[in-house]
Formats: sequence, structure tokens, C-alpha cells
Amino acid sequence: MNALVKQHLIDPEICIRCYTCEEHCPVDAITHDDNNVVVDVSKCNFCMDCISPCPTGSIDNWRIVATPYTLEEQFEWMELPAQEDGLEAGTDGGGSLEALEDEVGALLARAHEGTGGKPIAPASASKPSVNLFNRAKPARAVVQGNFRLTDAAAENDVRHIILSLGDQVFPVLEGQSVGVVVPGTDDAGKPHQPRLYSISSARDGEKPNANNIALTVKREPGGLASNYLCDLEKGAEIEITGPFGGTFLMPNDPAANIIMICTGTGSAPFRAFTERRRRTSPNASGRMHLYFGARRPEELPYFGPLKKVPESLLHQELCFSRVDGAAKEYVQDRMRKRADQLVPLLNDGNTHIFICGLKGMETGVDEALSDVCRGAGLDWASLKPLMRQSGRYHVETY
Ligand code: A2P
Repeated sequence: MNALVKQHLIDPEICIRCYTCEEHCPVDAITHDDNNVVVDVSKCNFCMDCISPCPTGSIDNWRIVATPYTLEEQFEWMELPAQEDGLEAGTDGGGSLEALEDEVGALLARAHEGTGGKPIAPASASKPSVNLFNRAKPARAVVQGNFRLTDAAAENDVRHIILSLGDQVFPVLEGQSVGVVVPGTDDAGKPHQPRLYSISSARDGEKPNANNIALTVKREPGGLASNYLCDLEKGAEIEITGPFGGTFLMPNDPAANIIMICTGTGSAPFRAFTERRRRTSPNASGRMHLYFGARRPEELPYFGPLKKVPESLLHQELCFSRVDGAAKEYVQDRMRKRADQLVPLLNDGNTHIFICGLKGMETGVDEALSDVCRGAGLDWASLKPLMRQSGRYHVETY
């Protein structure tokens, strides 16, 4: 038998094609085509720089192989092949696999330190469909509406964009994303990569059974995709890819408590979660708590509609950082003040935490949860990996 190799692979069913791993790889071992993101076995040096930045855990897959999968094979995959039976340390003549297994195991443990390993979906989440449409075969969506959500005078221009998928089968779940294909090419003459946007409507559509989805998009200064989307007029046709995302998914269990923490357009999946519960189990025993940060009320997406959502469905903690005459408040500051509400939820084995929004928020929220736990004799450093391993702790920051 050939010497066995431990091969680093990406799960195409979980990967959301954000290309973060590709940006972090110092040896250019990660590439992609219109279909998949793949790892070149001849270049990967197991540095693990790609592991912790991956928002989904799709990057953390390994197979013991006698003949490594080629890039061409990986580009074709719709799912990851199973580990071939009978290949393990000791079955090859070389005997070097054992040492490599130990080394990779130790490096991975360090990359995952304190996180509890790769994320998994909530136990009661529906099985997502992923990667049905790609750059080579995109879905065509027609703009049904493009509404400004933020006040006309506000600094931020955030839009609610509704896309009709006509008769195309594009099944989505709350928490999933789509890729938006911006027409044209970059400076190097290559087509633009699809940009990812989280879906803000429920699985059965922005309008129930109308086969449409909604996106929440903030116009970024100089942003290619965001300006393209924000400028779209009703009736315009665009290309989208996806759906993407296999772990940041809403638990279906109506008894599940859901703590949702977001800033700005990070609210998109939580609008979808709330709408799903409103439509399916408005009297659910599980509680939904929303911590939502924005500069000012005028810049908080969906501020008006949120005011009409009853407390029985959604407990809201809206925090503002730039209101004249008021102290700056971030979501993590408010969480510390609401320790009395958070502690019973953290003590409940059916509580899920979802964090979505600015990258910096992740550390801030982590520290707040540490403080909240400490004050109640809980240990966040051990609770967080437990929650993650049981599909109850999810982060999507950008
Ligand atoms: P700030 O006023 O300090 O920028 P944006 O409007 O840029 O999308 O941001 C949404 C909200 O998130 C703003 O209130 C912003 O506050 C806040 N914010 C910025 N950085 C953090 C952070 N590290 N943790 C939590 N909230 C943050």
C-alpha cells in the first residue's frame, strides 16, 4: 500500500463560499472555482491559519487517504466523500501517519482552543438545501421591492430588498445566505466573486408561499455589491447563488429559547427567526430575546415594525451608541445589565445563542457572557464549548 496521507478538505455542503480561508492561507493552498472551495494537498502545510477564521467549520475536515483527492475531483463534489474504511495509522508501511495524526490533532486543538470545536446545527433544525445554484448556473431573481429602512436623514442607508424567484426551486431556511453576482469584471478582468447576504425572510417566503426572499443590505461607501443592490429598481433581474449555510440555522423546537445578539444588518437572520416563530408557533414556550445595537433609533433596521412585535413573541433590548445626550451603549453593555434575565436562560439546556454582525462584537459579547456567568457562579469558559458542541452557540460576524 502507498504511504497514507492525512488530507485537509472542505465540506461543500457546509461551506458558504465566503473565501475567508483562502484569504488567510499563507501558502495559497486554498482556491475555488464556480462550484467549490478546495485545498491543494501538495501545498497545505497544516499551519491551521484557516481553521478559526472559518465561520462555519466546513474547513475542518480530514480524510486518511492512500491517493489524495485531486483539485479536479474536489471541484466536482456536491458532498464530502466518507472516510474510506481500513485506512488508519499502522496500516501503511511507512509508519509516519501516526506521528502526523498526533501533530495535526495537537495543532487543531490549539486552533479550536476555548471554542468547543467546529460548529454544528441545532439538533431540531431542518436539513438545509445548499449550493443548488452557483456562478456557472445561477438562479435568476427579479426585484419586487427595494425600500429604505433607515431614516432619510440617517447616516446609514439600509435597504429591505425583496427578490422573486419565480418558478425556480430555491428552498431556504432561516439563517441561510445567498450569493449576489455583480455583473462585470474586476481590475484583472475576472468575474466578481458572489457577495454573501443573509436572508431576512422566513423559509416560506417574504410573503407566505410566494417563492420570494428578502435581504437586508447596507450601502457601504465604495462597496461594489452593496451599491449594486441598493440601486436596483423594481423589475430588475439579478443572478444569485446558493443557498448557503448548514449550521447557523433556527431550531424548530418551539420550546427552544433563542438569544439573538446583533448590530445593524446582522439583524437579518433574526428577522427571519422571529417571523418563522410568529407564523408557526406564536405561543411557543421557548423565549426569544433580541439584543440589537445601532447608532440611533433612526438607523436601526426594522425599528418601526419591531415596535409592533409583542413581548410575548420577542423580548427586545435595543441599544444605541450615538444618541445625543445619552451614554454610548453597546449590546454587550446591555447584556451585563440584564444578567437577571440571561442567567436563567443560560442555565437552561434548551437555550441557543446566535451572534451576528460586526466582528468586534464577538469578543465584547464573549466578555459580557463571562461576566454574567461569573456573577451567577457559572463558568462561561466551560459552558460555551458545551453549547457549541450541542449546536446551541452560533456566530456569524464580518
Ligand atoms: P459605534 O457608534 O461605536 O460605531 P454600524 O452603524 O456601523 O453598522 O454599527 C452598528 C452598531 O454597532 C453601532 O451602534 C456601533 O457603534 C456598534 N458597534 C461598533 N463596534 C462594536 C463592537 N465592537 N461591539 C458592539 N457594538 C459595536
